[in-house]
Amino acid sequence: VTISKGNHRHFMLKEIYEQPIVVAQTLRSYLRRLDGELAMPAQDFDLASVKRVTIVACGTSYYAGCVAKYWFEQFARVPVDIDVASEFRYREPVMEEGGLALFISQSGETADTLAALRHARASGQKIAVVVNVPTSTMAREADLLLPTHAGPEIGVASTKAFTCQLAVLAAFAANLARAKGRLSRDEEKALVRHLSETPAALNGALAYDEAIEQVAQGIAKARDVLYLGRGPDYPLALEGALKLKEISYIHAEGYAAGEMKHGPIALIDENVPVIVLAPSGPLFEKTVSNMQEVQARGGQVVLISDYDGIQQAGEGCIATITMPKVHPLIAPLVYAIPVQLLAYHVAVAKGTDVDQPRNLAKSVTVE
Ligand code: G6P
Repeated sequence: VTISKGNHRHFMLKEIYEQPIVVAQTLRSYLRRLDGELAMPAQDFDLASVKRVTIVACGTSYYAGCVAKYWFEQFARVPVDIDVASEFRYREPVMEEGGLALFISQSGETADTLAALRHARASGQKIAVVVNVPTSTMAREADLLLPTHAGPEIGVASTKAFTCQLAVLAAFAANLARAKGRLSRDEEKALVRHLSETPAALNGALAYDEAIEQVAQGIAKARDVLYLGRGPDYPLALEGALKLKEISYIHAEGYAAGEMKHGPIALIDENVPVIVLAPSGPLFEKTVSNMQEVQARGGQVVLISDYDGIQQAGEGCIATITMPKVHPLIAPLVYAIPVQLLAYHVAVAKGTDVDQPRNLAKSVTVE
């Protein structure tokens, strides 16, 4: 099958724009929309018995796992251990017999993740796999297969596979919570409703593409960039920094907003743009106060928030990017859009090879 870029200049941009559709497609197989009920693909797997989850992945897939850790712990109250695949085996991780190990991979072939999967299996773990390629090695070796329906991803830097992974992981966290008796019928309905609102919110976020492109022109001049977020949006800050590094070759670091004062604040001057992810929600005020610490030291802040957030805290920022106002559960999916588009437009402004960045491979099959 040949896949074309359609009207888009790059595969990456095409794949960014596909997200409302492929996320909807993915969610459809996990949510029984009609009665507002959750439904896992029918598989013989006893979720109620899960006492602990070990998550392992690489790159962007690892950051999807970092977001999922917040969800599994918050909704299902199941403790989560998480590691990058290349570290996992060698630290001799402690895994109780019968535990659940969850592997996340777009390709299903990444050597480090596959080796970690086999190590977990040998240590008596049940194996769950969130994977985009249904014929992949990891898909074949899973006890519980949780497919994403992103379709083939060509751009080396992962975009639509990431948001589809988040969609599956959110639905899985909710299923786990239900199996553990942690969700009332009303809470379950509310979760399903929020998840169902994601595709429309992704469309809403894409509508700000031109504004994001404008902001990117300024970022493209920077040598270093900092990305800040809190809670489930902290891994998204890490993903934002990774995307900038991967395709625009700008040195970027993601930090937990509250951790700034313990080191990176020393880097702040008028040459380092600081991108702050601050959706309305329980962590908004705290994130804004960290942002103000940056501004008080002459930091140049780009605030990404919803209309209310920007009204409240946008003053003094060099730029703001407006997002639709969404429930905190789906904010990591929606805020993935500006994170991806910023990196994309910065890379285009710098003239780098967006779809095939130097030194990187789509799927890394060596350790
Ligand atoms: C490579 C790609 C990344 C990807 C990572 C993990 O490094 O460039 O975009 O996130 O591999 O790949 P996987 O297929 O396991 O998700």
